[in-house]
Amino acid sequence: MASVSPIRQHSPGATFSVNGMGFAYPESRRSIFEKFSLEARPGEFVAILGPSGCGKSTLLNLLSGFLRPQSGHITIDGAPVAPEHSALGYVFQSPHLFPWLSVLENVRFGLRMNRRGSPQEQRAIALHFLRLVGLEEQAEEPPHRLSGGQRQRVALARSLALEPRLLLMDEPFAALDAMTRSALNDELLRIWSSLGKTVLFITHDIDEAIYLADRVLVLGLPPAGITAEVPIGLPRPRDQRATRANPLFAELRERLAEQIAMVMTSNQPAT
Ligand SMILES: Nc1ncnc2c1ncn2[C@@H]1O[C@H](COP(=O)(O)OP(=O)(O)OP(=O)(O)O)[C@@H](O)[C@H]1O
Ligand SMILES: [Mg+2]
Repeated sequence: MASVSPIRQHSPGATFSVNGMGFAYPESRRSIFEKFSLEARPGEFVAILGPSGCGKSTLLNLLSGFLRPQSGHITIDGAPVAPEHSALGYVFQSPHLFPWLSVLENVRFGLRMNRRGSPQEQRAIALHFLRLVGLEEQAEEPPHRLSGGQRQRVALARSLALEPRLLLMDEPFAALDAMTRSALNDELLRIWSSLGKTVLFITHDIDEAIYLADRVLVLGLPPAGITAEVPIGLPRPRDQRATRANPLFAELRERLAEQIAMVMTSNQPAT
């Protein structure tokens, strides 16, 4: 194989901006978002925490252009979003891998669809990202021989292979056991710090949000929007034991738990 990297150049993180967005599902009278705004700097890791039903997945679907807001603007690097926007990558809670394709071919799939490079180059790129997530050895395996955590790594490699500048992650590790989840958290941080992507990470888990993010936002019940914004001043690189032993970690957890409790006891949405 050629000794040069198959990756042209790592694309830097994108800026995204949501400005004054309003959204309600067509069949519902209830607004999920009203005058909602949110921004992220290039390369920033933003986590969104919120109770079930507060609109986290809806927000990601709006950001990715799968849903359209009724008012306001969403831009990525200044341009309006669309589902085919090449700056976007997604990782969802349960990855949908093609069972009839090998792990490598699953990662290569998007490159084939986008006609990026020759088949050999596509395979080299897919292998590069499988190596990055520690799955090079499983490249020829079918997905059903992988564990849940390994499948989630394939999903991450698959989105990274398209070199998105903004990674949208909707509770990607929620279905995994605590040990696998914390290993994948470390892996994600390592990849994020080497690639510099902007990440919007959705989770139910306060500790996970603090451990990963530069900034944690609490999303209230619709249409409250963001009810708290907490900068996470913990040093990087982070380490499970040292970071969790930092007194600031406990302080941030306390603050966020209080904010979540306030959301849960706040007024129920108007019917
Ligand atoms: N297609 C839809 N049509 C109508 N209402 C919807 C639709 N999808 C979601 N909703 C409603 O919008 C609200 C927000 O849903 P959403 O899936 O964004 O919540 P969430 O914060 O991601 O929840 P969870 O943590 O359970 O994944 C909920 O009240 C939900 O019932
Ligand atoms: Mg959701």
